[in-house]
Amino acid sequence: MAFPDSFIDEVRRTANIVSYIQESVPLKKTGASWKGLCPFHNEKTPSFNVRTEPPVFHCFGCGEGGDVFKFVMLRERVAFPEAIEMVARRFGIPIPETRGFERTEDRKEREEILALLEAAAQRFTRNFWTAPGTRSREYLLGRGFQKETLEKIRVGAAPDSWSDLLDSLRNKFAPKLMLSAGLILERQDKSGHYDRFRNRAIFPILNESGKVVAFGARSLDGSDPKYLNSPETPVYQKSRVLYGLNWARDAIRDNGRAVLMEGYLDVARAIESGVSEAVASCGTAMTAGQARLLHRFGERVVVNFDQDEAGRKATLKSLEILTEEGLDVRVVDLPTGHDPDTYLRESGADAYRKRLDEAPVSMEWLIARAAAQNETGTPQGKAAYLKELLPSLVRIESAVERAAWLPKVAAAGGLDGAAADQELRRALSLRGGAATAAAAPVRSAVSDRLTPAEKWLLALIVQETEGVTEALAELQEDDIAGLKTAAILRAAKSLQDKGQAVTAASLTEAVAADEDRRLLRELAMEATPVEHADPLGCVLELRRATLGRRLEKAKAGVRDRQSKGEDWRELLLESNRLAKELEALKLRGLVPTPRASEPHTR
Ligand code: CTP
Ligand code: MN
Repeated sequence: MAFPDSFIDEVRRTANIVSYIQESVPLKKTGASWKGLCPFHNEKTPSFNVRTEPPVFHCFGCGEGGDVFKFVMLRERVAFPEAIEMVARRFGIPIPETRGFERTEDRKEREEILALLEAAAQRFTRNFWTAPGTRSREYLLGRGFQKETLEKIRVGAAPDSWSDLLDSLRNKFAPKLMLSAGLILERQDKSGHYDRFRNRAIFPILNESGKVVAFGARSLDGSDPKYLNSPETPVYQKSRVLYGLNWARDAIRDNGRAVLMEGYLDVARAIESGVSEAVASCGTAMTAGQARLLHRFGERVVVNFDQDEAGRKATLKSLEILTEEGLDVRVVDLPTGHDPDTYLRESGADAYRKRLDEAPVSMEWLIARAAAQNETGTPQGKAAYLKELLPSLVRIESAVERAAWLPKVAAAGGLDGAAADQELRRALSLRGGAATAAAAPVRSAVSDRLTPAEKWLLALIVQETEGVTEALAELQEDDIAGLKTAAILRAAKSLQDKGQAVTAASLTEAVAADEDRRLLRELAMEATPVEHADPLGCVLELRRATLGRRLEKAKAGVRDRQSKGEDWRELLLESNRLAKELEALKLRGLVPTPRASEPHTR
């Protein structure tokens, strides 16, 4: 709930829904509306409609529909605030500075860093194609890369100098900014600064919309480390960026599949070979953030890491993460020692594409791998083989799918089917136990002691659900006094009153107690049941509970005074007043409030 309603309305009014949708879905004008093939389900005859008055889309086939924001949320798999921002950017509508996730100064700094990184990238490329970059240029051309490919990925060069970049940017950017962008380092004696990247070929790392956010720099003389990368900065979180995604995104969408590789040069070679759906995790296993990012563009991922020990380890870890994200994961093996770069160069794009097309699904690959690695001819080998596969089997969510894999597992390892089944059942029950055991202490320690209304209200707040602003505006001290979460809710309201964004981050910063912070972290990850996805409803429920308690107390007081023969009339009036308020509140609760799942109806 970061944007003011007036801004959201402005974006909705200004955005041309037809031209926006047309950029990804071919549409044809028929009468008052535009028709095309629905991007949200499979169809052969167009039942997807877009109109301008009112500006909405609707599919008569699958029933999806809504405004331009809803379209973006579905298509790009982003939350409401991101959808607004994307549409605003597309139509050049200035985004208000009060944008929730960051403070104005932070946004300014990010923008300055991005401008600086762009300037640095330009300096590096200029070096690359002229005398200072001879060494990098000869190295990469020598590895058989085409000029066009190197230009496309904006390869650059840092010459063998302590201050080439520093000197070239000094007049335009402050050293402090260059430091926070990770481009320079401070001399040990604090007498000045020097360039981080020296005598290296430079690969600019772009985010999914094509902005330079970091650099990877390859050594040219065998010196260590082979790659020196930008540190994390306000614009670069390694775990949230996939190298190459900006070039690959359309191809991933069109082919319905991404190819996940390890390195910059793998992606470069893929681009050169016309395998345009390639991205790289940059030498590590995937993170959940990268998996989610990828999922915005396609459903299937083919993992193709280097065929060495490190690559296989990263493959195993990545399979877990990608599977957990709910992607359709496959794995390609290449001959030992190869990576996509060397294989493409040696065998060509057709051979490589064939391997991609035939890549087995991850479970099948895991079975084959475990069978090859264990001596399944021996009793101990069989046990080791199954033990290796059990975690992956247990991770499969669908019991039906799991049951379907078991005979294949048994067959490939020559196992007794019933015994394998027994082991799987045991592993499953252990998993249940371990999972609850691990989760339970935290839960029971914090969030389980809360009333449902306060728990869900907080969860909705930290998840930045639609309607939270209205709910916090409604919230009064009386509603929360005495609650375990009173301090947090008070902090949330005070942030909002000061015009600051209420987010998991800002709220965590604003509360003092460790326990409160732990609770927020926990709630940020909690899946909110739909029936609770109504922040205002939670506030009204809190009020109802408070009023109820006070009413009970007043009634008890009346009885008490009557029995003692004291004057009870004032308390009776109070009790009647509370009862009326409660009644009014119940009526108010019947008025439906917007649900989190339908932000577009606002
Ligand atoms: N990497 C890194 N730091 C290192 C080594 C590797 O960040 N010290 C990352 C880089 O993103 C690199 C990827 O891991 O691209 C894969 O590493 P590697 O296979 O060693 O490099 P390649 O890109 O394949 O380069 P080359 O073909 O020159 O070996
Ligand atoms: Mn490699």
